[in-house]
Amino acid sequence: MNTALAPETTAERYGINPKLLIDHEPPPLLDVGPPDRKALIEKAKGRVEDFHRLRDLGLVNKKGDFYPSVHYPPIVMYPPMTDDELLAGYKLPADGMVDVYAHIPFCNSHCVFCHYPVKLGPQLNEKSRYLEAFMKETDIWCQKLGVDRIKARSVLVGGGTPTFLTLDQCRRFLDGFCEKVDLSLCRQFNYDVDPNTLIGPEGSKRLAMLREYGVDRLTIGVQSLNPTILKKMGRHHGPQEALQAIKECMDAGFIVNIEFIFGYPGQTLENWLDVVEQACNLGVHEIQLYRLKVEAYGDHQGAVKNYVAIKPEEAPTNEEQFIMKQSAIQMLAHYGYFENLRRVFSRRRGDYSVYAHNQCCVQFDQIGIGLTAFSSLRDRFALVTQNFDEYYAAIDSGHLPINRGYIRTPEDQARWAIVLPIKNRNVRPANYRRLTGLALDEVFRAKIEALKSAGVMREDERALELTPLGAFFADEIAQQFHAPDFVPYPPSDYEDGPLNPYRNQELFS
Ligand SMILES: C[S@@+](CC[C@H](N)C(=O)[O-])C[C@H]1O[C@@H](n2cnc3c(N)ncnc32)[C@H](O)[C@@H]1O
Ligand code: SF4
Repeated sequence: MNTALAPETTAERYGINPKLLIDHEPPPLLDVGPPDRKALIEKAKGRVEDFHRLRDLGLVNKKGDFYPSVHYPPIVMYPPMTDDELLAGYKLPADGMVDVYAHIPFCNSHCVFCHYPVKLGPQLNEKSRYLEAFMKETDIWCQKLGVDRIKARSVLVGGGTPTFLTLDQCRRFLDGFCEKVDLSLCRQFNYDVDPNTLIGPEGSKRLAMLREYGVDRLTIGVQSLNPTILKKMGRHHGPQEALQAIKECMDAGFIVNIEFIFGYPGQTLENWLDVVEQACNLGVHEIQLYRLKVEAYGDHQGAVKNYVAIKPEEAPTNEEQFIMKQSAIQMLAHYGYFENLRRVFSRRRGDYSVYAHNQCCVQFDQIGIGLTAFSSLRDRFALVTQNFDEYYAAIDSGHLPINRGYIRTPEDQARWAIVLPIKNRNVRPANYRRLTGLALDEVFRAKIEALKSAGVMREDERALELTPLGAFFADEIAQQFHAPDFVPYPPSDYEDGPLNPYRNQELFS
């Protein structure tokens, strides 16, 4: 009889939730032919009229410009904060669980549209130094929270390009991470990836390694499948590499989400819809659409602003962008994709980012580790520095490298608990009470009634949510609940109608 024990797997060694190792089948493709594109575009043009109506009511900025509503208050407005201030009086939730974000700020080259601070090129030594600092930062979190390991509800590793580490560094990162982060109850382990690092023999090894450690969902930055647009974006891959990467990831059993940008210089309605239609026929689980943001919404301004200043004739107008977005939504619907979480379209209700859902809809506590990462802990929020030297220095001195943050007042909290979930899915009364101690049907009543009258919001005992028209202008509706100091544009940028964001701002009205 052979009494030798089978060697321990990586998942067993770190106690990784076995559910993370299950392969995910994509939903079967629908047997529908192409839609009538002319009719689809004609219908989509209705959104321009909607924009004019909602602009006249004061909801949308007069020019149609937008400001992404991602956090409340917006993070660029935060004052300095230390780790002691962040954690004063803070206790982990009763089950000890948090969602965990890990940031790897390295890329091959800087994409024209990108507003993130990253280090470029191989940077072998710098990456090793960073990984070491990252692990120390995780230890500091454990010490400060009084735990041996951080218990993860879900994980997102983002960047930068987190797969732009050598295979050896990638394994070192995963080993260090899984030692310090308990994945035994983790519901989803996400990675944000770029196409080039996933193809060829090295790409296959990288994908197999990610699966070994329980990574089960990938977000691939595809951005476009049009070769000319990809060049204008300064991407280091063409359509073929992106398509190959998507196939490899699906074959390897991941849940696959692919990201695109619309409104980019050089895009036309036709070449954009060609890309969306191609994407719909790949059979991926999720498709995510971003409207191009030209102005930075953090500290680093991407090159795209300069590009648009030099070639304004290439940039689609705001009206053209509305038609691009609406016709893409209709194209996606034709192929069975509905908006599951805001901007993310899937064909099954259960295909979505658990991390994004927990952060934006349920608003569970979340810890961010690594340069530029943010932590959101019940009524407080902190950002890690964007500067590498500051990052290393703080960790060397035994501190979390956060440099800005905010502790919300009860009124801020009452706004925050509407802004994020209304933007991303819906506001549930029980969750609202858990986060604020307040009854949803007693707050912002004048505001909510005005939004309902305009046809952009609806409410029943289950939830407060946006209508399809409201969902189209979700950022602007979320900003209706901002306090005056945090509305992104000054009063003169909005018409003085019933939905001017500076009206009906009181919590109790
Ligand atoms: C945090 S970024 C990381 C992307 C990843 N490193 C990549 O390029 O593959 C996530 C997504 O935001 C979108 N994005 C980045 N910059 C943008 C901008 N200026 N405007 C609109 N969307 C943008 C892109 O679709 C990108 O894939
Ligand atoms: S878009 Fe992604 S790959 Fe491009 S520079 Fe930014 S973080 Fe790096």
